[in-house]
Amino acid sequence: MANTNEENCGNLKKQLAKLFEASLRETVPSEPDVEPLVAACTAKFGDYQCNYAMSLWSKIKGKNSEFKGPPAVGQAVMRNLPPSEMIESCSVAGPGFVNIVLSKSWLAEKIQKMLVAGIDTWAPKISVKRAVVDFSSPNIAKEMHVGHLRSTIIGDTLARMLEFSKVDVLRRNHVGDWGTQFGMLIEFLFEKFPNFEDVNERAIGDLQAFYKASKQRFDAESAFKERAQKAVVRLKGGEPKYRQAWVKICDISRKEFDKVYQCLGVHLEEKGESFYNPFFPGVIEALSNQGLVQESEGARVIFIEGINIPLIVVKSDGGYNYASTDLTALWYRLNEEKAERIIYVTDVGQQQHFDMAAKRAGWLPAGDRMFPKASHVGFGLVLGDDGKRFRTRATEVVRLVDLLDEAKTRSKAALVERGKTEEWTEEELEQTAEAIGYGAIKYADLKNNRLTNYTFNYDQMLNDKGNTAVYLLYAHARICSIIKKSGKDIEELKKTGVLALGHPDERALGLHLLQFAETVEEACTNLLPNVLCEYLYNLSEYFTKFYSNCQVVGSAEETSRLLLCEATAVVMRKCFFLLGIVPVYKI
Ligand code: ARG
Repeated sequence: MANTNEENCGNLKKQLAKLFEASLRETVPSEPDVEPLVAACTAKFGDYQCNYAMSLWSKIKGKNSEFKGPPAVGQAVMRNLPPSEMIESCSVAGPGFVNIVLSKSWLAEKIQKMLVAGIDTWAPKISVKRAVVDFSSPNIAKEMHVGHLRSTIIGDTLARMLEFSKVDVLRRNHVGDWGTQFGMLIEFLFEKFPNFEDVNERAIGDLQAFYKASKQRFDAESAFKERAQKAVVRLKGGEPKYRQAWVKICDISRKEFDKVYQCLGVHLEEKGESFYNPFFPGVIEALSNQGLVQESEGARVIFIEGINIPLIVVKSDGGYNYASTDLTALWYRLNEEKAERIIYVTDVGQQQHFDMAAKRAGWLPAGDRMFPKASHVGFGLVLGDDGKRFRTRATEVVRLVDLLDEAKTRSKAALVERGKTEEWTEEELEQTAEAIGYGAIKYADLKNNRLTNYTFNYDQMLNDKGNTAVYLLYAHARICSIIKKSGKDIEELKKTGVLALGHPDERALGLHLLQFAETVEEACTNLLPNVLCEYLYNLSEYFTKFYSNCQVVGSAEETSRLLLCEATAVVMRKCFFLLGIVPVYKI
């Protein structure tokens, strides 16, 4: 028996690839570098397919091979597959495609094993030890807009998937807390509140309005502008009064951001732009010593091949900018934090070319498949129903807390309409409304390929039919209620019962369950949460089909089917967890 290695425990694709690898070594010993490409397939011939006979043929033909064409290669590959409990049957189709039908008793056994050992045994294995996920990252005293909401939602999911894969993730909030605008804000604070130490967010009210007012003053009055410019210098010089005022402004903003993070259940660790100030001189000096930094119109810059505008590392006034801060942050993440993977979650418009400077400096390897590696995870715009950038009213920006609240309010109203006020405690009602409302916003964002724009529409995202969080949460709750209705102790059944996949719809559901691991791995390596959403939606579809055609409670197969229900619920919950959605257990 071939060792269907436990290390790829949940991952069917990888386990099959191992078998094919062994067969290839046997079939074409002269070609040691052929990589087996195994893919799930929906054709009626099998569950998986390995189809490289064509490419293999093009390599060996003419080298006086024993084979007469790709189909013969396919046949030989199939014959040489080591015997395995995994496989029920194989066949060769067309120009040498090897089709695999998995054994249903093997599938059933694996699912049952997961139920006992826990879903974490299906976590992907990723070679990266530590990753920085740079996400959310709003700017102090400015609005936190829907773009930041997308970044927060997508970044949190990516962090969760990596954490699930046992990567040590540094969830980094790279807030914009530094720059010339702080001179203006500080000066305005002094003017409005001579005792600025006592100022709190209530006194200031809306920090965005405060920002606007100070900007107006800055543009209108030259004396104020001059004071603001001096304030920047004094802040940078570390003068206590100016630093205190800066800290105050940052704190007020932070409280506003935290409200959003609290709603969303997102955890972040802040290291804002200012954090990197002390590291600039050393980094610039090292880059200069490498001969990478040049003078250009009073500034110091790094030229990058293929890009017309150089990267400014030191501005003509001696200050640093957004890009040079990022360059320094990258240095810090690589050298101090020892991250092997650095992921930036920002809108697609933010072309980040500092990593090219880092490649020139030799901080990052030139090749794309090597580590350490910096990746930009871009995303599209959030649109309103009018197809334009999302806003509530024409001129006004949306406060994120209000946006989230609205979803909760609407989902609560729907629950009240369903008569839940009589059945549930106020706390249950609140919690469910939150889970559904916030879950709906997250899922609506995550289900599309992140690169596309998506339309923000409450009616759509809160619909209980179709591919929405509400539908999926209800599907999960329904499974829980089936198990409950049976009156059986599911923990007991896990130990004593036997799961079988006799009916075709049971088998289809079981196979899909076992594809969880390879799906998360794909979502994780390609940084695409929508892959996981699609999996989750299909899971509920497979379940529905199973449940419509197979009686559970009261049937002869009750125990087995309850175990299948439980396995579905467990996998669904893990998907919800990875998407940052709180599951609902009853409806
Ligand atoms: N503060 C920036 C913005 O609001 C996003 C920062 C993204 N992270 C980074 N390392 N540049 O657009």
